Amino acid sequence: MRPRPRFGGRAGRAASLFLALFALLPVSGAESADAERGKALYRDCKRCHQVGSGAEHRIGPHLNDLFGRAAASSPDYRYSPAMREAGDGGLVWTAATLDAFLADPRAVVPHTRMSFAGMAGPDDRAELVAWLRGFTGGGSGLPPAEPTATPEEFGLDPGVLAIPGDPEYGAYLAGECTTCHRADGAVEGIPSIVGWPVSDFVLALQAYKHGKRVHPAMQLVAGRLSDEEIAALAAHFEVAEFEP
Ligand code: HEC
Ligand code: HEC
Repeated sequence: MRPRPRFGGRAGRAASLFLALFALLPVSGAESADAERGKALYRDCKRCHQVGSGAEHRIGPHLNDLFGRAAASSPDYRYSPAMREAGDGGLVWTAATLDAFLADPRAVVPHTRMSFAGMAGPDDRAELVAWLRGFTGGGSGLPPAEPTATPEEFGLDPGVLAIPGDPEYGAYLAGECTTCHRADGAVEGIPSIVGWPVSDFVLALQAYKHGKRVHPAMQLVAGRLSDEEIAALAAHFEVAEFEP
């Protein structure tokens, strides 16, 4: 609920009406007063999604022109069977459905591949959703999309991204990974790693390997892998099929 503006008398009603009309106008992600706040909250999403001009599908689909369209309807993104089923079943992205999805993704779309535990604060969700609304129908006036992950962010040599990966060798190595990472990403707490762009995958594993991302099990796993093996695994998982 929006707090009611505190005005009295006729001037107050006119002011309230003005505020109500103002609230209905589409807000631009770039210009609204809450833009900085929305953008700060979007940091939770940024390692998987892009939004803004030139945004591309990364680990997750780009989030431009989200409002009013069915779930799983952005062309050329490989959605999970679960998300496609939700879209076919009538799930359309609106402020209300996004609020529920961001609070607890798996409650709205069971077995989604989106490995995100949820955003607890209702005010945070409302501000993030309002900010995202600015990227629907924004056309070319949008601020440029930011990258999901860069070597600089993890203090890694950009050369690690240029190492060619052999997907067949990757498929052979992947047996060690799929004991924990299920192909559909449905196991609570263990993220889905199927369908990731190569560069995001390589950077995540290199970050564990070099202690720039901390997680004991993954640091152990990645620490034993050579740069060539990491490239091979990335090449395999980018194109690997989802398994139910
Ligand atoms: C760890 C990576 C990751 C994070 C973090 C993440 N997402 Fe996602 N997101 C995904 C993936 C993967 C999908 C596709 C899910 C599927 O197909 O089941 C997705 C799907 C979505 C969709 C559905 C889009 C469509 O085209 O139907 C929305 C909306 C969304 N994410 C919003 C967000 C927002 C907002 C945040 C931040 C609060 C966020 N996501 C955080 C990976 C992520
Ligand atoms: C013992 C179980 C286990 C094994 C085996 C394992 N992982 Fe992981 N992996 C995890 C867990 C748990 C996380 C989440 C860690 C975190 O929160 O940073 C993770 C995270 C990841 C991530 C980052 C996911 C994200 O959403 O950011 C990637 C990429 C990854 N693993 C790849 C691999 C690969 C490739 C292998 C095989 C060589 C592998 N893992 C083997 C448990 C495992």
